Amino acid sequence: MSVIEQLHVGRPTSRVDGRLKVTGKAQYAAEYSTNGMLYGYIVSSTIAAGHISSMDLTAARRMPGVVEIFTHENRGKAAWLDRKWRDDVAPPGHPFRPLHSDRILFDGQPVALVVAETFEAARDAASLIAIAYEADPHCTELARKRNEAYVPPEKRSGIPPPPDPRGAAEQAYADAPVKISRDYRINPEHHNPMEMFGSTCVYEQGGKLTIYDKTQGSQNAQGYVTSVFGLSGDDVRVVNHYVGGAFGSGLRPQHQLFFAVMASLELERSVRVTMTRKQMFHIGYRPDNYQTVSLAADRDGRLQSIMHDAVAATSHYEDYQEAVVNWSGLMYHCDNVKLTYQLAKLNTATPCDMRAPGAAIGVTAMECALDELAYELGIDPLEMRRINFAQKDENTNKEFTSKALMECYRAGAAAFGWERRAQQPRAMRDGRQLVGWGVSTGIWDAFLQKAQASATLKQDGTLEVATAASDIGTGTWTILTQIGADAFGLPLEDVQARIGDSSLPMSPVEGGSWTAASNGSAVQAACDALKQSLFKLATKMANSPLADASFDDVALEGRRIFRKDDPARGLAISEIMHAAGLSELTEQGKVSPSLIQMMNYISYTHSAVFAEVQVDEDLGVVRVTRVVCAAAAGRILNPKTARSQILGGVVMGIGMALHEEGMTDHRLGKIMNANFAEYHIPAHADVEDIEVIFVDEQDDKVSPIGVKGLGEIGIVGTAAAVANAIFHATGKRVRDFPITIDKILTAPPLS
Ligand code: MOS
Repeated sequence: MSVIEQLHVGRPTSRVDGRLKVTGKAQYAAEYSTNGMLYGYIVSSTIAAGHISSMDLTAARRMPGVVEIFTHENRGKAAWLDRKWRDDVAPPGHPFRPLHSDRILFDGQPVALVVAETFEAARDAASLIAIAYEADPHCTELARKRNEAYVPPEKRSGIPPPPDPRGAAEQAYADAPVKISRDYRINPEHHNPMEMFGSTCVYEQGGKLTIYDKTQGSQNAQGYVTSVFGLSGDDVRVVNHYVGGAFGSGLRPQHQLFFAVMASLELERSVRVTMTRKQMFHIGYRPDNYQTVSLAADRDGRLQSIMHDAVAATSHYEDYQEAVVNWSGLMYHCDNVKLTYQLAKLNTATPCDMRAPGAAIGVTAMECALDELAYELGIDPLEMRRINFAQKDENTNKEFTSKALMECYRAGAAAFGWERRAQQPRAMRDGRQLVGWGVSTGIWDAFLQKAQASATLKQDGTLEVATAASDIGTGTWTILTQIGADAFGLPLEDVQARIGDSSLPMSPVEGGSWTAASNGSAVQAACDALKQSLFKLATKMANSPLADASFDDVALEGRRIFRKDDPARGLAISEIMHAAGLSELTEQGKVSPSLIQMMNYISYTHSAVFAEVQVDEDLGVVRVTRVVCAAAAGRILNPKTARSQILGGVVMGIGMALHEEGMTDHRLGKIMNANFAEYHIPAHADVEDIEVIFVDEQDDKVSPIGVKGLGEIGIVGTAAAVANAIFHATGKRVRDFPITIDKILTAPPLS
């Protein structure tokens, strides 16, 4: 904790990169240019399984401006061993290797790269390539593969498998007086960040590469490139200063990175490759899933048994895994719990993390089921959640470092006006609209990851803080600037953050909501070390006014270090640097989770989500008129950017509840709505009033700076709160997401 009053941390602070973004000066990966740059266009397969029997490139090669066409027959040199293609966050299996062979593994698989002097020439030539395929039988329909579901033999690093069963869940279920067992499904969702994937690979003399890549991890991308192409780390620098949203799609390197680098190395030219919006639907996605939740309670609403079984899609070549059912064993107190999670292989690309992977779908099913049980019992759904409050993580028997969830329930309910809710469904109206109120709990991990940072004082007393973090829209630029500013008592303008560059101090990918806690703590540590160094230099100066001071006696402000009890006695930073003959002074900082603490404690972010819907029963139209999300996320560094994270998460949750659905024609194995006209994400008209509340939560164990992270919690529980509100409005329970008009119109009425 800073020795002086915190000026910036905790204040609603506008993005330091906001002006650059709104004036178009912030450059994204595909906006970098260099002389003589070439453009690559990816050709996608039109079948889901089989192989390429022939490719006719004649017409394409004749297109003016075409420089080269790469296929599996002339792909550039790349690693043979498939473990060389594994990135930091790859699931178990065999990573996809573009143009490795004639085999087709999924619809939309890249099968060629056309490289030309202009983007238009590359695109036109791509349309002239004639490809003949031999199709194999395929299956893209999870319902047909459920009977082949399996427990993944190798677990994905960082993803806990379901805990062992505890108690006797089946017996307790059989014995309990009140119970429900329901099937849920959340249809696949596709990644649609505003910025599509792009890489600009700048080829320098001697083969050094500077790669501007849309990624959530510059060092993960760099590691992938050096490993796949056998290059030295010194020869590859990956830059991702600005990232136009990612939500998990940019955790793993995407195809365009491989293509830009491969073409660049082969042609010894700079190359830019971008994906189309349609191609964004052929990369990883939130997997299709079927879930069954069985809950039983005593007549007072106390849970006696929880069983949650999930089957989720993966590809034929990797076992993608996420924690879907685990949450059901730790959100509420229950002695009898049985959770299972299985995969089934489809002829699709490997699914990938998407905002709150696992929890977003698993908690949705659990929280809808709990709502259904509350109605069976005649207990208020919010009360139901309070009755079953868990004091510790019963999956692991660990204490929570903090859990201000009760306060989320209280503050959220108060802001929402929950006490005015009619208990019965179909009891609230606004004109001819049915009105419903629903609630859900949200939960997400509060991770601390290993991270490093540096802090540098310049001779003029300004500060630079650096770490290879990414800002995927989350506000990382801003919070790191705030932390640096407070450490040295500087205005924000005197602090320059440096992120988004693989050459900066080590950082994990920006994911899992861990960046603020991890990189923020590393920056804090670097600043603390730098202050110590500066202080030592100050005390050593001839006739130093701080000679007899201890570190705790001094403060920093106005580019000076001075005695707190006598601010006139001090030194300008520039004087100290000058006396020491330094043009700048740098220190490093790092953070890593404490193993001793991890044995005893576990950390989660919690929320209570309240939703109001209005349903036009004649038309089946649902409007989400109000959402209140009360979150407990430890210390809030910047209430403004933090609020934006929750808003975005809630909007995405509304999308899960009502809109987003990848639709595949299973006869063809092809996604049919790979565009924004037919794949609906919430637009402004779909989003009305959202209120965000951060409840006070002091946590000195979760991370050195007391931060938990907020990138994902906003989506968790939102879809369930909306679905529960729709039931409350209509008496209709739709368990197949998204809850579209047709489902509302055809759902059986309240029985
Ligand atoms: Mo997140 S799905 O870890 O970017």
